[in-house]
Amino acid sequence: SQKWVLMVTAQTPTNIAVIKYWGKRDENLILAINDSISVTLDPAHLCTTTTVAVSPAFNQDRMWLNGKEISLSGGRYQNCLREIRARANDVEDEKRGIKITKNDWENLHVHIASYNNFPTAAGLASSAAGFACLVYSLAKLMNVQEDNGKLSAIARQGSGSACRSLYGGFVKWVMGKEENGSDSVAIQLVDEKHWDELVIIIAVVSSRQKETSSTSGMLETVETSALIEHRAKEVVPKRIIQMEEAIQKRDFATFTHLTCADSNQFHAVCLDTSPPIFYMNDTSHRIISCVEKWNRSEGTPQVAYTFDAGPNAVLIARNRTSAALLLQRLLFHFPPNSETDLNSYVIGDKSILK
Ligand code: PMV
Repeated sequence: SQKWVLMVTAQTPTNIAVIKYWGKRDENLILAINDSISVTLDPAHLCTTTTVAVSPAFNQDRMWLNGKEISLSGGRYQNCLREIRARANDVEDEKRGIKITKNDWENLHVHIASYNNFPTAAGLASSAAGFACLVYSLAKLMNVQEDNGKLSAIARQGSGSACRSLYGGFVKWVMGKEENGSDSVAIQLVDEKHWDELVIIIAVVSSRQKETSSTSGMLETVETSALIEHRAKEVVPKRIIQMEEAIQKRDFATFTHLTCADSNQFHAVCLDTSPPIFYMNDTSHRIISCVEKWNRSEGTPQVAYTFDAGPNAVLIARNRTSAALLLQRLLFHFPPNSETDLNSYVIGDKSILK
């Protein structure tokens, strides 16, 4: 019968880079010019939920994002769909009498419905959770047997940062050397239990969509910035080694120093791009000053900050006590309904590393 539908639902959290990826050496395969390290958030707060369905009644691949149909014709979606289909296996649902053989997948179409529980394309790494979830749910539907490392290389072709969302805890995206990208994969450094005192707070400065997409931003930076090569070749490789050590040892002072410095350098190369790219705004800058002053006055750092391609602050507190103090400070400096456009305080007011 043509009536059956098989469905799989998956949920994938987003991740926030503490050593940033910025710049590609291959635009189509999405190969980075430097390694990066991120922390995966708690799925309860920032995540994508994707349901994928297959049925002989579907006559084309279709996708809905937050309830609105979007086109799948872009190269990134096509690359992910093609790579997963190429690895599909037999699937059988005996109870319902459904049997799909390996070769059937070429002629079967999928419907994909994806929801983000946070603003899309506002510099909160929505594409990371989105593509990781798309690849993971399709792989489950099509009974793909590859491990998460191999799946990460497919998710990478949707959005670079997506490869890091296939694992929890702290994750490194190794840029790799191969031209075909086979060694450009994510690896888990430590799992989510390793450093579970950390508390991540996101101050949503603006939920508007960013003006410069990360794709065009990076391209312009690589083409026009005099600083980016120095960053990718000289600075990041050293920071990656130091950051891995800081994470292993749970050394919060070094972790904070590296995280803040790397965020600031990423925004510096954006400013060094022609025309310059401004992702942070006045409120972001005020949050940085506030955290810097507090860390200095305490002697030992209490909070690390990092900003992606948008004005929202990701604040990583050393423990629950410093997270509570941070919230008090934010409320004091940015009272609700004030002139600032800090319109909500937190997504994720509890430990993200669970
Ligand atoms: O993978 P993209 O295209 O979403 O780019 C991500 C870029 C940053 O978020 C700014 C840095 C990073 O490593 O996630």
